[in-house]
Amino acid sequence: MRPVILAIESSCDETSASVITNGKVLNNIIATQAVHQKYGGVVPELASRAHQQNIVAVVDEALQKSGLNKTDLDAVAFTRGPGLMGALLVGVSFAKGLALALDIPLIEVNHMQAHVLAHFIGPSQPSFPFLCLTVSGGHTQIVLVKDYLDMEVIGQTQDDAVGEAFDKAAKVMGLPYPGGPLIDKYAQQGNANAYKFSQTSMPGLDFSFSGIKTQFLYFLRDEKLKNPNFVEENVADISASLQQHLVNMLLTRLIQASEQTGIRDIAIAGGVSANSGLRNSLKAVGEKKGWRIFIPAFEYCTDNAGMIAMAAHYKFLKGEFSALDVTPLARMPI
Ligand code: KG4
Ligand code: ZN
Repeated sequence: MRPVILAIESSCDETSASVITNGKVLNNIIATQAVHQKYGGVVPELASRAHQQNIVAVVDEALQKSGLNKTDLDAVAFTRGPGLMGALLVGVSFAKGLALALDIPLIEVNHMQAHVLAHFIGPSQPSFPFLCLTVSGGHTQIVLVKDYLDMEVIGQTQDDAVGEAFDKAAKVMGLPYPGGPLIDKYAQQGNANAYKFSQTSMPGLDFSFSGIKTQFLYFLRDEKLKNPNFVEENVADISASLQQHLVNMLLTRLIQASEQTGIRDIAIAGGVSANSGLRNSLKAVGEKKGWRIFIPAFEYCTDNAGMIAMAAHYKFLKGEFSALDVTPLARMPI
């Protein structure tokens, strides 16, 4: 069942490896780096070091679980960018070493394209053209997906990513990193209409999340002056209100994008697509608007090598290989 490709992801704080045969992802091994928790965010130096420690074991496990050997591989794929330079270097160097040793081609993958292509791992797949809202700790973009490897960003954040807004809001509430999933958890018990926040207006299909971060900080400061236990006593309502506000910002733009393009196959991708508020609101809006909604399985929402493998498969079919002097890119357009 060719091609057999080993894919490696190391752009941020997950070290991951996956084996794909003839377009079918066989496994998706992920080593999450707990080391960042106590710092309240990803520390780039520590991420690089943890990738170095984890990469051999993660690759070995992916190969072993696939029942294949290194010599069965037709290509090695890696995330070229965007991401943390030191973290990317670990995956790129490892992939190069393996490709050189086995004398097989090297395939570079764009991490943001891969988040979109995660939709082709499972049985429910969108049709081209479709729109994908990619929402993570580093990105917030609306992508017009014309084909597997032909994508255009038609709206994006001009400052912070929405995942960053979740995480920074959680941090000022005193919650551990990454706070996005915790806000989601508390929000499920809260009243989303308890507190109101205002939106910064942005042109076209673009987003801005830096304003809400400051607004939220001042809101908590003022409330804590009145009641020092404000956060502890109202964590569910605060989480639900903030989450609904962020989700509304995302959906407003997605509705506009669908109306402008006439596209009604709508997908979400990236870590924040795990958010239950976003999933539920998207389904509700989708029903009203007659959209077909696509949400990846949880393990393919956050960073993973399965999606890198899927992207690599399409690149292999097109014969898009990289030279051995390829270098990582911290910024890499889709
Ligand atoms: O895609 P991802 O794993 O890594 C990046 O490329 O950034 O996304 C991580 C982001 C973090 O900001 C995390 O807080 C957020 O996704 N996240 C969530 C949820 N699960 C992960 N945010 C809100 N609700 C969730 N359930
Ligand atoms: Zn990502």
